[in-house]
Amino acid sequence: MTLSVFRAIHTAVSPHSLIFRRSRASFCCSVNRPSSSSSAVSATPVSTVRIPLFLREATGTATISELHAWRKWAQTLVSSVGSKFEDADNGPGPELLCREIRWMLEDVVEANLDVVNRLSDETAFGKDGDVVRLRAGLDELYCLWEERIEKRRPFQYLVGCDHWRDLVVCVQEGVLIPRPETEMIVDMVEEVVSRDKRLAEGIWADLGTGSGALGIGIARILRNGGKVVATDISEVAISVASFNVNRYGLQDKIELRQGSWFEPLEDVKGKLSGLVSNPPYIPSMNIAGLQAEVGQHEPRLALDGGKDGLDYLLHLCENSALALESGGFFAFETNGGSQSKFIADVMTNRSNFSFRDVKIVADLSGIQRFVTGFRQ
Ligand SMILES: C[S@@+](CC[C@H](N)C(=O)[O-])C[C@H]1O[C@@H](n2cnc3c(N)ncnc32)[C@H](O)[C@@H]1O
Repeated sequence: MTLSVFRAIHTAVSPHSLIFRRSRASFCCSVNRPSSSSSAVSATPVSTVRIPLFLREATGTATISELHAWRKWAQTLVSSVGSKFEDADNGPGPELLCREIRWMLEDVVEANLDVVNRLSDETAFGKDGDVVRLRAGLDELYCLWEERIEKRRPFQYLVGCDHWRDLVVCVQEGVLIPRPETEMIVDMVEEVVSRDKRLAEGIWADLGTGSGALGIGIARILRNGGKVVATDISEVAISVASFNVNRYGLQDKIELRQGSWFEPLEDVKGKLSGLVSNPPYIPSMNIAGLQAEVGQHEPRLALDGGKDGLDYLLHLCENSALALESGGFFAFETNGGSQSKFIADVMTNRSNFSFRDVKIVADLSGIQRFVTGFRQ
């Protein structure tokens, strides 16, 4: 995991809260700006995808002092909130919210880190009438920050992207914001494919791909010939994933298919070299208690795993033996603790001994987050 490039890391890692951090990649993104006539990888329309701030044309302008006034106003809103969000549901505190103000400016001000730095310099404010080019109008900036504070709209939805591993993936309402702990699945895949050329050149499936982050991360480490089939039941997720796949130029390596879990995988049944999934796993009764950013804004379809949170994990367990080829690898993300123990037990003892080397792997916070193993 490329922790060293992260500009800021928030404290506890929990999929029930949103962990905000960013990498320097926001300024040195090596991928191309998508063209309006992008060649879609599938028949899925990408027209419904909202272009994130950092990819927009800079058609607006503002003076440095206008931006300074916006920043001061945004900080005043943060001060008025204080630790209210933290106290209520472990939400973002003032320090993090202030960092988000800066990140928002970085995305909005056209390729000019110097301007953003000057905005942090108290002595530079109010004197500077220089005009800078913006990717959003000032009015929009005011509206966005109001939504952040008043509606607790997640920062990633405001700016339309999330910095995940070494990627910048576009996200919007209707699609889960990928979490840092899920990055570890790519690391685990990287390890197994580095040891087994056959796996590195095989077909992998990412079930419930959401923004496509996991599928894209895996596609980038497979060798020539290696492919990913990424599925999701949500049309918005498939559209957003398609946009992200195109942006990373991976149309030939990732095939997106809309449908429920294994349903779209009939043609590759028994042929998969790998199967990864971060399915919805939060017990239904816990959804109401989630951090407002998550519970009120992220799609329930991506969170709710049924009564015990195990509905989809068990479905994955039941169908993996038929989907994977001999020697194929699987990695599932869980809610941790008893959930991962239960899933590991199912894969070890209740699967007609179809799997070997079943392990529980902890995330970086020490939570027993993942269950991994191999098809016999
Ligand atoms: C926890 S999210 C994970 C998204 C993404 N893989 C990630 O880690 O950021 C679970 C995903 O499963 C998808 N999903 C829910 N029910 C599904 C189903 N029956 N078949 C396929 N995908 C489903 C949701 O739309 C959502 O994108």
